[in-house]
Amino acid sequence: MNKAFSVALLLLLAGSGVLAQSKAPGPNPPLVAVAASAVPAVQSQNILDVKPDASSEPGYATQTNGERSKVQPGNNAPMWRQVGSGVTGYSSLPKSEAPEAGNLIQPYVQYPGSRLTNAGEAWRQVRNRIILPYGGALLLIVLVAIALFHWRIGPMKVKDEPTGRLVERFTPLERSAHWANAIAFSVLAISGVVMAFGKFFLLPVLGSTLFGWLAYVLKNVHNFAGPLFTVSLLIVIATFMRDNLPARGDLNWMLKGGGILSGQEIESGRFNAGEKVTYWGGVFVLGLIVVASGLFMDKLLPGLVYERASMQVAHMVHAVSNIAMLCMFLGHIYMGTLGTKGAYEGMKTGYVDEAWAREHHALWLADIKSGKIPAQRSQSGAASQPVQV
Ligand code: HEM
Repeated sequence: MNKAFSVALLLLLAGSGVLAQSKAPGPNPPLVAVAASAVPAVQSQNILDVKPDASSEPGYATQTNGERSKVQPGNNAPMWRQVGSGVTGYSSLPKSEAPEAGNLIQPYVQYPGSRLTNAGEAWRQVRNRIILPYGGALLLIVLVAIALFHWRIGPMKVKDEPTGRLVERFTPLERSAHWANAIAFSVLAISGVVMAFGKFFLLPVLGSTLFGWLAYVLKNVHNFAGPLFTVSLLIVIATFMRDNLPARGDLNWMLKGGGILSGQEIESGRFNAGEKVTYWGGVFVLGLIVVASGLFMDKLLPGLVYERASMQVAHMVHAVSNIAMLCMFLGHIYMGTLGTKGAYEGMKTGYVDEAWAREHHALWLADIKSGKIPAQRSQSGAASQPVQV
């Protein structure tokens, strides 16, 4: 409450010019002592440029608020130009908690090959003009590719009849970690997609009031699901790491694309090379990047300084890595449900039929048969109902 009040007050004072007047006496002095000539002339369409063509007037860039308002009443662009040059005003907030509280807006920056701009505006443009359109297009391409794959090639089936003999595929710990993670992921994916792309497909249908409330609720849901995802992700990484280490047969599997197109599946261990790519690329690398950038934006990582610029970088890293992760996991979810008959039952019950294991993970079944891997790793005993494959 105090913070909000101080920031609002600061804004109000700066906006009305009171802050400036209380610092230095005289008619319409600058907000803070900064050589106005150090502030380059702003170009048109800039948020600080209230009258776009005024910058060509002689002395425009060095005018004070008072001088400007004589020529153009009500125009306080000189004050905003100084605010935008990165000067720091007074704030009662502790520096440790709010290092930038004294700065109303981010300073101007000039990126190579681009015009002088406000850093916040630059970030907004990157989000709206690059990340969202290209990321959205990529997601749609992946969805269409999965639909085409399903339509033309179809799900992978087990050729042999079920044997009725069950093999334990996942222990209860593995399944609970996986499903906690999958549920948190789905909640994060839905809320994230609505926050990023909802204005394109939901706003026109729901209207601004309803969409505003939905986005507000989902933003809070997103912030709570993040930590649950983090904990379950770490358990998933730990429990599945050993069987995702590179092993014999992986290279052959990769070179032949798993034999998916030819219909002759290539032998693999407990997880095939495709699953290992999902694990290391999607779960390990992208998962940790997504989690780190998300926790940073939630200000949950201790000992770090949270500033506007680092928040913007974290946001861009979060958005890009999430789109990549979503693309990978759309493929994973398809393969785990419609794409491989019987795989979902394995993750649901913990057991698969021997015929399923032989078809999809022949090397793993061979290791179980030879006693190299225990057939039963959990205490719970075999499922009473044979798994339908
Ligand atoms: C949201 C819906 C999801 C569904 C329906 C789903 C389904 C499945 C299924 C059926 C399997 C077993 C595959 C097999 O027996 O080889 C599996 C394995 C696995 N899933 Fe998921 N999953 C989902 C989300 C996730 C998420 C969000 C993660 C992690 C970020 C994840 C990580 C894994 C891992 C690590 C494995 C073991 C195989 C491997 O290491 O690649 N899953 N999933």
